[in-house]
Amino acid sequence: MYGDDIASVLITEEEIEAKVGELAELISKRYPADAPEGDLLLVGVLKGAIFFMTDLAKALPVPTQLEFMAVSSYGSSTSSSGVVRIMKDLDKDIAGRNVLIVEDIIDSGLTLSWLMRNLSTRNPASLEVVTLLRKPDALRTQVEVANVGFDIPNEFVVGYGLDYAERYRDLPYIGTLHPRVYGGETD
Ligand code: XMP
Ligand code: MG
Repeated sequence: MYGDDIASVLITEEEIEAKVGELAELISKRYPADAPEGDLLLVGVLKGAIFFMTDLAKALPVPTQLEFMAVSSYGSSTSSSGVVRIMKDLDKDIAGRNVLIVEDIIDSGLTLSWLMRNLSTRNPASLEVVTLLRKPDALRTQVEVANVGFDIPNEFVVGYGLDYAERYRDLPYIGTLHPRVYGGETD
């Protein structure tokens, strides 16, 4: 559908589906359906996490509620500085709730560590993270991520929510872009 823009398929649609099921199983063990904190609150980070988040919510055998945040990180287009600006904040108070941040990808981990600090000041009952993808650099940060779908090489990837200049999010798999496509910016 995008001609030959995609250089390789890194993770197939079937592999994603199987992994989402595994993650849902793991996560549901920690959040009982009748928890006193109420339904598990999934906080998705727009826009990259939406495909993963909706599939995860459907696969989870416990009731979930969905909230979204949009953040933008200051810095160059290819690396985040760790200074984050909230473009869209949560609509609801998360105090006393079990909160699970849903991320598409952790690269340096700077965005996530900022987000964790920010949300923890709002006094949730618990705060955890699930990410579909993790790049090698993320292991050097202090962010504790309980649930990781796939560890991937340090390559720019697109598809299943991930974009290059807002394109390719609609691909059902995760792939790498042909270098020809990105002469300039990579996010
Ligand atoms: P940090 O470095 O703070 O950044 O963990 C995480 C954010 O960077 C973006 N990102 C990517 N987006 N393909 C993308 O489409 C990639 O390979 C990629 N690597 C990092 C993404 O917005 C993520 O939330
Ligand atoms: Mg992007």
